[in-house]
Amino acid sequence: MARKIAFINYKGGVGKTSLIVNIAACLARMGSRVLLCDFDTQSNASIWLLKLDRWNPINSTGEGAIYSIFDPGRHRVCDLIVRDVVLDKAGGHALPGLDLLPTTFNLVDLESEYAGDPKRPAYVIFQEQIAEIEHEYDFILFDCPPNILRASQCGIFTATEIYVPANPDALSLIGFTLLIEKLGRFHQLSASFRRVSMGPPAQVYGVIFNAIKTGVDIEVPKMRMQLRLNQFKAAKRTAKEARIFDSFVRDAMVVRRAVALGLPVALLGQEAIGDNVVRDYERVAEEILRNAPAVT
Ligand SMILES: Nc1ncnc2c1ncn2[C@@H]1O[C@H](COP(=O)(O)OP(=O)(O)OP(=O)(O)O)[C@@H](O)[C@H]1O
Ligand SMILES: [Mg+2]
Repeated sequence: MARKIAFINYKGGVGKTSLIVNIAACLARMGSRVLLCDFDTQSNASIWLLKLDRWNPINSTGEGAIYSIFDPGRHRVCDLIVRDVVLDKAGGHALPGLDLLPTTFNLVDLESEYAGDPKRPAYVIFQEQIAEIEHEYDFILFDCPPNILRASQCGIFTATEIYVPANPDALSLIGFTLLIEKLGRFHQLSASFRRVSMGPPAQVYGVIFNAIKTGVDIEVPKMRMQLRLNQFKAAKRTAKEARIFDSFVRDAMVVRRAVALGLPVALLGQEAIGDNVVRDYERVAEEILRNAPAVT
C-alpha cells in the first residue's frame, strides 16, 4: 500500500509546494515510486515540473488536467499521469520514479461551476480512482492550497497522513490551528462516504519548518508550535505520534532558482552544493520515511 500524504497549512506561502516537489524528488532518488498530485489551481508544482512548454498546451485545452476527471468526466486519473515527469535538456528522463498528476487553472471551476452529483462528491470520485492505481506507488503526495475547499478535500479525503509546512512565525501557528479546526469539520462532513478499506481519516503526523534564515533562532517558535501540538494531541485531534520534525529546510536562493529552471533542487548539481539545502530536503525525506505510522 502506498503511503498517501497531504501537505497543507492554512497559511499561504509557507513552502508547501517547494517542500513537496523537493521531497518527492528525494524520495524518488532514494528508489521510491512517487506520484505527486497537484491540487492547487495556481498550478505551481505542475508548471515547475513540466515547464511552461509542456504545461501550456494542457492549460489551453484542459486535456490531461486533473479537472477532466470531474468535468466532462471522461478521463480517469490513470490516463492523466505524466510518467517520469522531469526531463533533462536532451528530453531524456532525468528522474525516473517521479510521476505527476498535473493541474491547470481550470481547477478553480471545481469550487463554483462544478455541480456534480451530491451523492458522489468530487473527493469520492478522486479517491476511487487513486485506489485503482495506488499499488503502483510507494508514496502518493498531494499538494494542497491553503484551504479545505473542494480541491484540497480530494487530497485530504484520500490521504491518511498530513504534514504541515510552517515558517517560524505567528501566522504559521495560526494557520496550523485553523487547519486542525477545519479538518475536524471536514472529517465529520465526509464520514458517511468513508469505507473501512480506506483506513482512518487523515491526521496530522508532523510539522516541518521551512525557509529558516541563517542566524535566526527557531527555538521559541518551535516551543510555541510544540505547546499547540501538545494541546491538539491531548484532545486527540492529531495522530498520537505527531511531532515537530528534527530536520528543517534552510532559506536558500537556489530554491527560488530551481523553479525557474524547472528542476527539483537535487538535480541542480554544482549550483545547489554551496547552499547544501539538498541535504536539508534529504533529511526531511529520511524523517518522513522513518515516521511511517505504525501498522495496526
Ligand atoms: N527554503 C526556501 N528558501 C528560499 N525560498 C523558499 C524556500 N521555500 C520556499 N521558498 C520560496 O517561497 C515562496 C513560497 O513558497 P511555496 O510556493 O513553496 O509556498 P506555498 O506554501 O506552496 O504557497 P501557496 O500557499 O501559494 O501554495 C516561493 O517563491 C518559493 O520559491
Ligand atoms: Mg503552493
